[in-house]
Amino acid sequence: MKAIEIRRKYLDYFKRHGHAVIPSAPLIPENDPSVLFTTAGMQPLVPYLLGEKHPEGKRLTDYQKCVRTNDIDEVGDNRHLTFFEMLGNWSLGDYFKDESIAMSFEFLTKELGIPVEKLSVTCFAGDEDCPRDEVAANAWKKAGIPEDHIYYYGKDDNWWIAGEEGPCGPDTEMFYDTGKPACSPDCQPSCDCGKYVEIWNNVFMEYFKDKNGYRKLEQRNVDTGLGLERMTMLLQGKETPFDTELFSPVMEKLKELQKVDIIESRRIIAEHLRSSMMIIADGGRPSNLDRGYVLRRLIRRMIRHMNKIQIDLSELKTLIDIYVENLGEMYPELIKNRETIEQVIIEEKDKFVKTLAKGEREFEKAIGRLEETKIIPGNVVFKLYDTYGFPPEVTKELAEENGYKIDMDEFNELFKKHQEKSRAGSEQKFKGGLAETTEETIKYHTATHLLNAAIKRVIGKDAHQRGSNITVDRMRFDFNCDHKLTSEEKQEIEDLVNKWIKEGLPVTKQEMKKEDAIKSGAECMFIEKYPDIVTVYTIGDVSKELCGGPHVKNTSELGKFKIKKEESSSSGVRRIKAVLIDE
Ligand code: ALA
Repeated sequence: MKAIEIRRKYLDYFKRHGHAVIPSAPLIPENDPSVLFTTAGMQPLVPYLLGEKHPEGKRLTDYQKCVRTNDIDEVGDNRHLTFFEMLGNWSLGDYFKDESIAMSFEFLTKELGIPVEKLSVTCFAGDEDCPRDEVAANAWKKAGIPEDHIYYYGKDDNWWIAGEEGPCGPDTEMFYDTGKPACSPDCQPSCDCGKYVEIWNNVFMEYFKDKNGYRKLEQRNVDTGLGLERMTMLLQGKETPFDTELFSPVMEKLKELQKVDIIESRRIIAEHLRSSMMIIADGGRPSNLDRGYVLRRLIRRMIRHMNKIQIDLSELKTLIDIYVENLGEMYPELIKNRETIEQVIIEEKDKFVKTLAKGEREFEKAIGRLEETKIIPGNVVFKLYDTYGFPPEVTKELAEENGYKIDMDEFNELFKKHQEKSRAGSEQKFKGGLAETTEETIKYHTATHLLNAAIKRVIGKDAHQRGSNITVDRMRFDFNCDHKLTSEEKQEIEDLVNKWIKEGLPVTKQEMKKEDAIKSGAECMFIEKYPDIVTVYTIGDVSKELCGGPHVKNTSELGKFKIKKEESSSSGVRRIKAVLIDE
């Protein structure tokens, strides 16, 4: 069964069971600056899991494009992917464990035709926060899973939460037995020898966790996630997702083009290219800042591996075309954005190529001096990053190919110091990624506050910030507004910001209790995401916002502000793109 058919069957099945099919949210979360990418189907649904009414009702299903970058170094083995598709179904305070499990069982065994004996399931073993999940286990027994295929594990395996805080709960996971021999008499679903592969996770989200511990939510939800690439691989009896139609046309082309035969490199190229294309199609662009830097890492690592197996970089276009042809039906956004995707990847390739040879020479020089220790110090890794644009994992790979290790701890320390010079303030957001705060991005941060204040004056005080995104070259700002801005409104906003810049308003910073900040009328987008003590930035008497900073000291540092574009972002939300020009 092809991936697209599995997706279709899934959505149809849940539609027949009363679920509304909702569209996949973009990979780049629209209104949530606290995460880099959408990492799970539940992420865009958090407000509804917490009790807000969803316009489509209490039963939802979708396919969700996801990017997870924690494991970027692992890509190249036979299973890790940075981009993947998650099929999901949700009950928002509607059905709970019995019905959820009955549906999962029926879908796996009847719709996908998986023999019952190939399935094992795991349930939560219970602890001081939440009882043993006998309800789930009984539901599995009733459905037809034999008792000796039901396992119980603790929080490490059978509890799901996105990050540290938020809606969460015990889960039940379904595993597929590949038929490989057991690695030991104790081999169980929790073992990762490869015999058992997790295929689906149903989370019974009835808790909320914050720093005070767990509390019950007002409604009992179900949140499920089924990884499409993995399921496709298993149903097709393939060893890896790279052997399925999702990757194989590109994998085959790479084999044809390569002069050196390294399977890990082919996988890295195929995986990172697909992931980059999906990110670009959803509006991502390479930069040195958070999301943009993840994209930059993906593209640069891919290029390095193309060089490694000696594939001419001009073949990138051929590879992109193959993906557009093969995945366009599943992801029409690839067809729609084909030219942009090509342009962005090729431009980034050109940028990297310019410094690649120099950087590699620098690397060679460094290892010549380090033959004794065979450890590349952090300052060399940092220089390669800072001057030659080598993501540290690229240096790490280069080092390993030459029998060297890198001092990643020292690199991280240097990197942190470098960041502290221009404090990023919101490290949380960048966990797992490398964010850079430059003079330019700091200016854009301050300009964002001015724009927010100008919009309030021109459009109305109910126009609130809904999102923002900054790169070294531009800023983007989303706000709620029910109409397309007129040219007069745009002009007025632009003039106001420029007037404030000309006035040379001081930017001051103050720490205070969150409730005092709110009382003082400070603007803030996601109040619940801030700690009890917050930083408030005030600009003259025009703006006051909760913000981690950093900011310029005086608005006169900003140059000239210019709105480049005003467009719709989503329903009821407008987006302004603007730049700062040196005066
Ligand atoms: N949110 C759950 C997961 O990502 C379903 O596994």
